[in-house]
Formats: sequence, C-alpha cells, structure tokens
Amino acid sequence: MSKKVQIAPSILSADFGKLTQEIAEVEPYTDRIHFDVMDGNFVPNISFGAPILKWVKTKLPIDVHLMIERPWLYLEDFVKSGGDLIIVHSEVCAKSGKNSLVNVLKKIKKLGAKTGVCIKPKTSVKVLMDVLGEKWLRHVDQILIMTVEPGFGGQSFMPKMVGKIGQLRKMGFKGDIAIDGGINAETGKICADAGADILIAGNYIFGAKDRVKAAKSLKF
Ligand code: DX5
Ligand code: ZN
Repeated sequence: MSKKVQIAPSILSADFGKLTQEIAEVEPYTDRIHFDVMDGNFVPNISFGAPILKWVKTKLPIDVHLMIERPWLYLEDFVKSGGDLIIVHSEVCAKSGKNSLVNVLKKIKKLGAKTGVCIKPKTSVKVLMDVLGEKWLRHVDQILIMTVEPGFGGQSFMPKMVGKIGQLRKMGFKGDIAIDGGINAETGKICADAGADILIAGNYIFGAKDRVKAAKSLKF
C-alpha cells in the first residue's frame, strides 16, 4: 500500500563547515530540507538558529523543526531567514491564550509560512484533536511524529510510534505526516507502508559513504 514519499534530509548530521556543498550533494535526490533547531532547554542539546538558516542555500522547501521552549518569540526570524514551513512542538504551547497552539499556528500563517506541529513519543495524537479541534487540524500542513526522543541524531527508531500514522488519518487529518528519528531503508519502508508522506533522515543520509545511494533507498 505504499505511495511516493518525500525525503527530507536533516542537516543536523551534515558537516556544518561545508553546508552548501553538503546540501547540493543530496538536493537532486531529495524533496525538502529539514532544519533542526535545539535550545538546550526543551531538549538536552544545542544546534543552530536563524543566523545559520540564512546560509542554507537550496531550491527545496525548508522545514524548520523548532525544538525550543518559546517558539512564538522567534517565528518571524525563522520565516525571514528562509523557513518555508515552521514546526512547533505541541508540548511547549500554552493551554489557552496568546501562546496556545492555535494562536501560534495562526501567527505562522500570517507570516506567510506553512504550519507544522510535532509530538514527542510520549504525546498521543489525541492531544492534537483536544487542543486543535477538527477545524484547526485542517490548517496544519504537516504533523511530525517523533520516533526517537528529540535532541540527537543517530538514535534508534521506536516501532511503537508507527501506529500514530493510522490514528491521525482516522482523526481525519489530510495534511502531510512526517516521521523523524532513526529512519533508514528498513524503518522508512515500514513508515511508508503505514501511510507516511515525508521521511526525515539525518544520520542515514549524511553518515553514509554513498549519500546518493542512501537517499535513493528511501524512495518508496
Ligand atoms: C532529532 C531530530 C531529527 C534528527 C534525525 O531530535 O529532530 O530530525 O536529526 O536524525 P536521525 O535520522 O539521525 O535519527
Ligand atoms: Zn527534526
């Protein structure tokens, strides 16, 4: 039951000293670039921010995965720096008011970017329906399911998370479902068969001797 999935290399595993060449090497074989932002608070690691995003040169759309405590403070920075789709974690948003998930998504749309919501392994998809409701679920372009605890590349895939793909579809979600963490040819196939639209891969692509071959092996 697999269909054509999009491949999104995570540049977290790339050589930052030659980012432009790293991206150019995989660009013809992939569909979008995944940019992982970590603040050392929401996750126990620090990566990079908007000033580095400005240096990411690509024809592909850039998905910015914000693993940070207060994403609403930096949305404009990331959109102005080249982010096409901004992904925030449901876990950091307020239950209501200015910084609720719905209001943060509204702000992203107002800035002219596409919207994404990410859930950590322990967060159920049901939370999204509770927080967003049917109407707002329709305004989400991408839901990112974490298949590792966010914070580091190169971790092992959590197979139990695959069930969330079908659950999201049952809830009526029609946008893109992306899977992030521990993706390789084997785990990627499992997710593609379960209905995933986007496979994010860091270590599997940038850690490979033959990156082109690795990227191609994810085309399901
Ligand atoms: C993890 C990040 C991922 C990570 C994936 O916190 O959100 O995007 O880079 O890396 P791999 O594919 O190496 O698990
Ligand atoms: Zn990510």
